[in-house]
Amino acid sequence: MAPDGQILQQTGAPNVYDADPIPEAARVEIERLLTSGDLFRYTAPQDAPVALLEAEFAALMGSRYALAVSSCSAALFLALKALDLPKGAKVLIPAFTFAAVPSSLVHADCEPVLVEVGENYRVDMADFAAKLPGAAAVMISHMRGHTSDMDAIMALCDAAGVPVIEDAAHSLGTVWGGRNIGTIGKVGCFSFQSYKMVNAGEGGILITETRRLPRGRSSCRAPMRATGRSIRGCRIPVRIGRTSCPCITCGCRTCLLR
Ligand SMILES: Cc1ncc(COP(=O)(O)O)c(C=O)c1O
Repeated sequence: MAPDGQILQQTGAPNVYDADPIPEAARVEIERLLTSGDLFRYTAPQDAPVALLEAEFAALMGSRYALAVSSCSAALFLALKALDLPKGAKVLIPAFTFAAVPSSLVHADCEPVLVEVGENYRVDMADFAAKLPGAAAVMISHMRGHTSDMDAIMALCDAAGVPVIEDAAHSLGTVWGGRNIGTIGKVGCFSFQSYKMVNAGEGGILITETRRLPRGRSSCRAPMRATGRSIRGCRIPVRIGRTSCPCITCGCRTCLLR
């Protein structure tokens, strides 16, 4: 059903309006977790669901580290904090994005600077280049598969020494020049909210190659201690995420893009 209540004709196009049902295997695991009552991420002696998700997601994406948190918004916020930007730091974001993006910046004491987006929904590179001087970081939202020119963005940012955060909230499985989106910048952030590629109700994850982002290991191991906010992932959404996306366990891109 479309948002205006219209019934869609079956055209063979994927249904992008309804959330995927939670599969039986995930419901069995959730029941097991509820029965145990142990939903906290840190209490399992080994193979904690959150740690397994992080390991599987990192392996799937081909990145070294992954950190599961409560939402993609939390991942974006944490990525900004981990970069240790000064208060009031200017961060470029595309004008076509979601409210969570400027919100994460404001929460991290940064100042959003909007960059024009063309009719193709991609970042306008002339405006980007004009606004990059003076920016402390860049956050690129890959909106609905309309990936901006990451080669051009990375070339300009690398030359200027400006770190790039990829907001891949709904671009899990997208590739750019053979590279997984989310692995091109310093940090990649994904959403597991109900209408994203992996439906865990709520949830998010960030990936990075950098064990020691400037703020130190604590920001990647203990997001609450580093930021003063409770943004950890707990076991129920994680369990749903691990089970409802076959790719999280099989690693196959065909499944991922199904
Ligand atoms: C482009 C974009 N970035 C970030 C988010 C935030 O994701 P979450 O709902 O997991 O916080 C969304 C959510 O829809 C989004 O569309």
